Amino acid sequence: MVNTQTLKTLAPHIRDMLRVRSSILGRPLIGPQSINIHVIQACDRKCAFCWYFSPLISSPPKRVMLDYAVLEGVIDDCHEIGVDEINLEGGEIVLYPFTEQAFHKIKDLGMRLKAYSHLDFESKHLRYLCLADRLIVNFSAMTEESYRRVHGKIKGSMANLIKHLDRLLVARRKYGKPKIVLTFIAYDHNYKELPALLELAQQREIDRVYIRFFKATKEMKELVFSKQSLVEFREIVENALGAGYTFQHNLENLRNIIDNGHQFENIVALTSTPMHNDRLFVYDSTSGKKVNCQVGWFYSFMDENGRVIAPCDSVGVCIAGNVYERRFKDIWFDNDFLHNTLREASAGIHTCSSKWQECRYCGYVPVNKALNDKINRVRGETLAVPTEMDDQAKKA
Ligand SMILES: C[S@@+](CC[C@H](N)C(=O)[O-])C[C@H]1O[C@@H](n2cnc3c(N)ncnc32)[C@H](O)[C@@H]1O
Ligand code: SF4
Ligand code: SF4
Repeated sequence: MVNTQTLKTLAPHIRDMLRVRSSILGRPLIGPQSINIHVIQACDRKCAFCWYFSPLISSPPKRVMLDYAVLEGVIDDCHEIGVDEINLEGGEIVLYPFTEQAFHKIKDLGMRLKAYSHLDFESKHLRYLCLADRLIVNFSAMTEESYRRVHGKIKGSMANLIKHLDRLLVARRKYGKPKIVLTFIAYDHNYKELPALLELAQQREIDRVYIRFFKATKEMKELVFSKQSLVEFREIVENALGAGYTFQHNLENLRNIIDNGHQFENIVALTSTPMHNDRLFVYDSTSGKKVNCQVGWFYSFMDENGRVIAPCDSVGVCIAGNVYERRFKDIWFDNDFLHNTLREASAGIHTCSSKWQECRYCGYVPVNKALNDKINRVRGETLAVPTEMDDQAKKA
């Protein structure tokens, strides 16, 4: 077992190197860089595209939330084993009764905090949301009328969302945080609103806009891009690329996905798994090529039932344990099933195998590329001379 006592004292670059070494060695020497924790499975929006709460979904999940005592234990473990960042997600996190406590605890322990929220809530929640280092806001409609249609909100409004966004931006200008990321889920009925979102982002000096392609279940099939809409969307993306936006964005990646032309090939429907509802695949984001998946050495995922999932939460190949039964640090370090899965993923997986078929959905293609580049660089380096990092690894 790893001696965890020194891990939290290590400098960030040493921690990062230990994760690279973990992948090379095939066993974890330190906790993940970031853990994504779903604290609550409930939302007061009904976004048309949401694979959990869309009105098109016939059996939405029941409301479930993580016990706060259990969450506290996980946060303590994360601090002890050198996790850099906690990422709290829902559903909608302000509906979790302990979000404020969790925010304070994470920041008091000195970890980075990311959180997802739709911002269309009572203003009192801003008091603690502004503690986050980064807030990710799902904003996929640009008029009050389309906001109601796209985000399915009975109470609340886009004006309310923007009011809170502006208040958070005042805090960010003053204190440097929270950084604001706007997410736009593009599908057949809203893609024409993307330019307006990009303009809003530019005017308000948003930090990043992340556009995702809608991923369908069978029941949501009617929302999938038609061929004609995709042509129009490509044009919108191309024009946006020429607009010289100064915020970070993934427009180029989006154009590449459209241009590789596989969006309407190999449509495969998968049935539900214990991890998620069925998936109607539109394209294979790995292009069917071998992927050396390193994500699981750097990121961890936990759902509202306390299940720790690896290598990522898009696939159900490894439920590494449950924090209601074992400490997170033990699930992470003392776990042959988890480590074997991570080794298998690092060695290379193919979406044509039944085990890894859900990786068609991989949202980590650029992340995996960056991680593999880093790991290969370290592999290629001469390790004859012990480094500061090796000494730290020995201690750990
Ligand atoms: C279920 S949401 C929960 C977090 C938050 N409520 C939100 O909407 O961002 C988790 C992530 O899945 C994305 N998402 C939901 N349904 C999707 C779909 N059908 N296709 C692609 N992404 C989807 C959301 O945008 C979000 O980034
Ligand atoms: S805000 Fe997020 S969780 Fe809620 S319905 Fe929309 S996509 Fe789903
Ligand atoms: S979906 Fe991507 S990140 Fe997740 S296991 Fe598959 S290849 Fe790895």
